[in-house]
Amino acid sequence: MPTTVGIETTGDDAGIEHFIRGLPKTDLHIHLEGSIEPELMLTLADRNGISLPWSSTAALRSAYHFEDLQSFLDLYFAGCRVLVHERDFYDVTLAYLERAVVDGVIRAELFIGPQSFTERGVSISTLISGVLTAMDDATRKHGISIGLLISAHRHRSEADALALLDSILPWSNRILGVGLGGAEAGNPPSKFERFFHAARKKGFHTTVHAGEEGPAAYVREAIELLQVDRIDHGITCRDDPALVEDLAAMAIPLTVCPLSNLKLKVVQSLETHPLKTLLDAGLRVTINSDDPPYFGGYVSENLIACRQALGLSVSDIVQLARNGFSSAFISQDEADAGIGSIDAYLDEHVAFS
Ligand code: HPA
Ligand code: ZN
Repeated sequence: MPTTVGIETTGDDAGIEHFIRGLPKTDLHIHLEGSIEPELMLTLADRNGISLPWSSTAALRSAYHFEDLQSFLDLYFAGCRVLVHERDFYDVTLAYLERAVVDGVIRAELFIGPQSFTERGVSISTLISGVLTAMDDATRKHGISIGLLISAHRHRSEADALALLDSILPWSNRILGVGLGGAEAGNPPSKFERFFHAARKKGFHTTVHAGEEGPAAYVREAIELLQVDRIDHGITCRDDPALVEDLAAMAIPLTVCPLSNLKLKVVQSLETHPLKTLLDAGLRVTINSDDPPYFGGYVSENLIACRQALGLSVSDIVQLARNGFSSAFISQDEADAGIGSIDAYLDEHVAFS
């Protein structure tokens, strides 16, 4: 066991960035629809004869400026229109996974929200087949471990979410869990109590976006009413010290996405992001990419930006990576192996240990 934790580094920025990129990591909060790089977005639009308001990658990239979650969701849902055929879902999934592999991610848990597609006549089987085939190919080629999470839209009704749950049951042995995304304000977790209860009864893991734009009370509802295994974002819990204590005591993971929070103006600056405060309070904080091209980075870029803005130590960075493996929906053996691969990496990088 290396002696990394607790020891600060004086390494130069380039050395630490290289260290972060090579560190074995997880990405537990990434939306496949939000992972489409501009080049692929234009290719798919062209292939499927779909006209988009942007004709170049530069025009697309320059549209990635947001005022809040809703202004992002408007663009995100517009982008979903380019995914029509099984091959499209395959291409998007494989493209994300290949970037994740290069980024040092060895365990990824991928969200997809089928309601954007099924409402336009794409069948659930088209979507799931494309995603699963790409997951299998990526694991075979690169050894990456991958899980699939199905996300319901919270701005739609609970009846719609329950119908979605029914529709995925034929693939229940290949789907790890369910989540909830979309416009948070005014759509509290309590709206989906029966959905999460039914999902748990079917044996799915559960996670919910809560405490991104919504108040700490939504995080409280998520753990008490929905009894979820994990919280996506969750950062507004900082406004309720008793909740912070409870999250730490219950070891409920938060899948935090700092660049997303910055771009959606959930925080005013990365320097004021509560990540380090929550980590120091003993919460099981993990770092994730959310919708990488829209927000300007994969997991490593999130870690690099936070290191600079918040003065994270190497110990903090290693702790965040370890938390990823203890928060993933994997067996204890696989979590131990992931943490073991971090320890082996630290042994090889003695300058950082
Ligand atoms: N919040 C809510 N819904 C989402 C997000 C998010 O960060 N990303 C994709 N759908
Ligand atoms: Zn998200």
